[in-house]
Amino acid sequence: MTVLASTREELAKLLDSARRDGIPVGFVPTMGALHEGHASLMRVARERVGSTGPVVVSIFVNPLQFGAGEDLDRYPRTLEADLEVCEREGVDVVFAPSVEEVYPGGDPQVTVAPGPLAEVLEGKTRPGHFGGVLTVVAKLFGLVKPDVAVFGEKDYQQLALIRRMAADLCLGVDVVGAPTQREPDGLALSSRNRYLSPEQREEATTLSRALYAAQAEAGHGVEAALQAARAELRRAKGVDLDYLVITDPALAALPTDPEPATEARILIAARVGTTRLIDNMSLTIGASR
Ligand code: PAF
Repeated sequence: MTVLASTREELAKLLDSARRDGIPVGFVPTMGALHEGHASLMRVARERVGSTGPVVVSIFVNPLQFGAGEDLDRYPRTLEADLEVCEREGVDVVFAPSVEEVYPGGDPQVTVAPGPLAEVLEGKTRPGHFGGVLTVVAKLFGLVKPDVAVFGEKDYQQLALIRRMAADLCLGVDVVGAPTQREPDGLALSSRNRYLSPEQREEATTLSRALYAAQAEAGHGVEAALQAARAELRRAKGVDLDYLVITDPALAALPTDPEPATEARILIAARVGTTRLIDNMSLTIGASR
């Protein structure tokens, strides 16, 4: 049975015996509005900790990671439905604190500085976003004290930064990335998909189509892959591209003439109506040269 904790004390009590007995704790931090993508993260956490280790899911819409004019107020809050998802997935504890519980003194004075990786891609259009993400994730790690924490590859830059934080700050948490879950037509599952009208939902599939097209052409090199993606994007009407880039898997620049069969990542962000969507996939560059 899934138990709901709203305070730090309730959470600590629920995890007390696991901690005392050295049983591994699995953790899936979320902002709620849970869908199959989140459910898949819960299953990965369960695999990692086994049937005896508690799996904790946090549900907290973190104000610190939203910029002015972003969707903090309209971000979907669906606790009852979320609890059903957690129950179905055999989650032991849901931690759903209030903003005051997480930030009792208002905005924290000490925050995590995410470094240069936070200044590119998402960080360019969302200044301050990753500082807010890393600060809340560090706090949640401090409260849950997990052995393993699972994040989706859908937010690829976020995953890279959380890995980096865990390593650089020696947090002792095994950060695991889980593959993006997709609708049958390729659209990456996202809590923000629910903002889309039926027409926009249709247009939104352009993002994954562009990435698949790039994957198919990647054997001919970076430029061929980008061209294939751009051709898909040109066909779409309501998709306003923010960025489309190919990097190395750690989000650093690729060498200008990569070796055949170089592993890479393609990342895209675009606005469909007023909704900003992101997606990414792995690529193998130059394999068929
Ligand atoms: O990916 C998310 O849902 C959030 O950024 C996270 C990691 C839960 C931090 O608020």
